[in-house]
Amino acid sequence: MSETPAHTQGLGEQESIWFKLSALHKGGNHNAMSVLLQLSERYGGVIPVNMGNQRVVFLSEPEHFKRVLVTKVDDYIKYFDGLKPIFGKSMITHDGALWQKIRMPQQPAFHPDMFAEYVPYFLTAIRAKMDAWGQLAKSGQTVEMVEQTWTLAADMICKALFDRDMPFNPHVVFNCVKTYTDVANHRSVRLKMVAGEEFELTEESTAKAMEVWAGVPPDVMAADPVEARERTLLKMIEAAVADPSIPEFDQQQAIDEIKQYLWAGTETTALTLAWALYETSRNPAVAERIRQEGDSVYGNQSREPAASDYSGLAYTRAVIQETMRLYPPIWGLMRVAAKADVIDGKDIKAGDRIVLFAYGTHHSAKYWEDPEEFRPERFMGEAAKKRKPYTYIPFGGGKRSCIGGAMSQVENTLALSMLLRRFRPEYVGDIPAGINATVTLTPKGGLPFKIRELS
Ligand code: HEM
Repeated sequence: MSETPAHTQGLGEQESIWFKLSALHKGGNHNAMSVLLQLSERYGGVIPVNMGNQRVVFLSEPEHFKRVLVTKVDDYIKYFDGLKPIFGKSMITHDGALWQKIRMPQQPAFHPDMFAEYVPYFLTAIRAKMDAWGQLAKSGQTVEMVEQTWTLAADMICKALFDRDMPFNPHVVFNCVKTYTDVANHRSVRLKMVAGEEFELTEESTAKAMEVWAGVPPDVMAADPVEARERTLLKMIEAAVADPSIPEFDQQQAIDEIKQYLWAGTETTALTLAWALYETSRNPAVAERIRQEGDSVYGNQSREPAASDYSGLAYTRAVIQETMRLYPPIWGLMRVAAKADVIDGKDIKAGDRIVLFAYGTHHSAKYWEDPEEFRPERFMGEAAKKRKPYTYIPFGGGKRSCIGGAMSQVENTLALSMLLRRFRPEYVGDIPAGINATVTLTPKGGLPFKIRELS
């Protein structure tokens, strides 16, 4: 077999957690999440599983999440094997002082005071998507919703955070990134490696995918600014590169940070909106209430929502939050134990891979009444206040929680409200949609939709 080229490193490596977790899909298993859920219901919140030569420990109780993410955060460190080509050396992959040095100069871009500045750019991107949907409604063709929302989310990030019109074809990039994040690819490459077979096809497509992906950040940086705004995330990244007090923040760091945002900020936001459209298609009364809320908060069709309208869209926001409960895009947070520990009387050894099983807690009858029911009201009023801490962690927790979580809720609330006021997107796939536990929680085979204009 020829030597493994650098771009396929990580794909199919035996040590990769993603390769090991792909065992959950063995035998065409319909939903790996339900298997893990049943295990945690039967055997408790700490489940050590031997996967090959590696112990993987699944944790699914809120107090375990708090221990790993907050109380003993420095003993449970980030773990990104198999995904370096997606993230490079961006801050999401680091720990300790270096992580802090890289995050600090970028943090101001995500302060809630900035959201009002971003809203007009989110709206421009949503309007462009609505124009495209107008055409799709006329043609009557079937579209894959995650691809639709991925392209919208990427456009929102480029416009609001980078002051750029997307200088790449988001449909092509979407498919390239999936080469790495779909763990089934890791498994098939590994099986071929073990059998001593060539894996030209996968190797070629991987090489191509990574070439395209690597080219995206330089294209973003080189593209003309749309408005030459001074306060953007991209400007903060450029300033960090020029700052001699942070020599670690070099040009490659800048490229990798952009990569990270285009993945972490796009994939997750897009999945949430796509699953929200799936649920609202299945629950027309929910869709209708979203439309009525839009009517009462920002008036008739001729006006668009402003930043100040966001707080009034409480029900639409709750739909987004309930969607992230049922379909947490990051279904499991990965860490490696740096030291021995004892959790619930069970030994954790240094080197154990830890999976914080967010999906399990989000679906646990211990913490949610009728957990499989889609009920946005859980996130409104008194019900929301009564929630036990760490039972809902779509954005993680503690100092490593998502930098863009609050912003993504603004993006998705506005997008859902505006899209549903003009359209009735109709889900035309299997019910229920299958779930694939890739790096993110993705719909198996996608979410096919037909777009209809409301009359
Ligand atoms: C629905 C939308 C989103 C979800 C569900 C989500 C989820 C998460 C989660 C769970 C983490 C923590 C992972 C861990 O601790 O292992 C995280 C981290 C991160 N997210 Fe998000 N995210 C979303 C949107 C965004 C957006 C819009 C951006 C930026 C544009 C973003 C950028 C990041 C970054 C940079 C980190 C790493 C932070 C650090 O390590 O300091 N995310 N996200």
